[in-house]
Amino acid sequence: MRKSRILGVGMYLPERVVTNHELEAMKELETSDEWIRQRTGIEERRYVKEGESGADMAYHASVQAIENAGLTRDDIDFIILGTLSPDYNFPGNGVYLQDKLFGDRTVGALDIRNQCSSFLYGYTVADSLIRTGQFNHILVVGTEIHSTALDFTKRGRDVTVLFGDAASVIVVGPAPEGHQGLLASTLHSEGKYASDLWMEAPASVYHPRITAEMVAEGRHYPKMNGRMVFKHAVTRMVEAANEVLTKSGKTSDDVDLVLLHQANLRINTMAINLLKIPEERTVNTIMWTGNTTAASIPICMCEAIKQGKLKENDLVLAAAFGAGFTWGAALFQW
Ligand code: ACO
Repeated sequence: MRKSRILGVGMYLPERVVTNHELEAMKELETSDEWIRQRTGIEERRYVKEGESGADMAYHASVQAIENAGLTRDDIDFIILGTLSPDYNFPGNGVYLQDKLFGDRTVGALDIRNQCSSFLYGYTVADSLIRTGQFNHILVVGTEIHSTALDFTKRGRDVTVLFGDAASVIVVGPAPEGHQGLLASTLHSEGKYASDLWMEAPASVYHPRITAEMVAEGRHYPKMNGRMVFKHAVTRMVEAANEVLTKSGKTSDDVDLVLLHQANLRINTMAINLLKIPEERTVNTIMWTGNTTAASIPICMCEAIKQGKLKENDLVLAAAFGAGFTWGAALFQW
């Protein structure tokens, strides 16, 4: 059976930079640059301008990824799109991207909802579809607009300071003879912790789905049990990373580059230390992106390429943890 590889990567960040100082200036938020930097490593993030959509961002990142892969739009035959912040309740963002990229060419679009683990879920599914020969060139997209759903008061400050808007895309296609492709991946979920990191409303289990009281209580904003998520994130990412290393008969010494989901710099420092991988063999972008959820890992790929840390045939270990809880890891040759 043929293998798949990542042929190209692209990213898009909105123009508007929002620094910690700008958040500090919002009196009702009661936060500070010092607190955010010390606890998370974040210095700034980007927010979309009025009317800019998740599909718009995904379009820009896709164009870049397709070009980077040395392909044209005509080569793409499937879309897998991950987001926790679709432009509308339904349909998912995949169809909007299909329209922007392909117009009358009716390329299929699969929407997935695995939050910060979306990239790993999407890439694993894309790999299987390429292996079986079902499709030849798949866009795996992550696009998030967090900024329009944040609580800019003290009530929501723990979550609000973390998130930024962005999109990123990889193109997955057939690997040449001898390329190792995706050596191993692992995907997990544990729904008993769903409400420890979630956005509750509007919800179809309620009738009506949202009320003025729910809005007043802030139940339409994301909520997080921060400390608990932090501990699970470190443990689960390390577990999953070790799982894919064992599955593929490799050790952390074989890994050229580690790409971790960008939720908190302290989480990633702890995880990389537990994996006994030197910090030079990783890239973090959270300082200037914040947590961009489904978009984070391919943004790290772009940055690693820019820094000369990601080269042809390198062995890359990626891991992510997020809402659900969902988590996973992948070991692949670049
Ligand atoms: N500014 C100032 N003070 C704050 C802020 C803020 N933005 N947020 C919280 N505080 C205060 C708290 O109120 C608390 O004050 P108190 O001591 O008077 O009660 C104090 O700071 C400490 O709060 P903690 O929550 O204990 O702070 P902690 O060190 O745990 O950091 C953080 C909080 C950054 C949110 C951390 O827990 C974290 O990063 N958690 C994991 C995030 C994550 O991984 N998310 C998963 C991905 S998201 C997704 O999947 C959608």
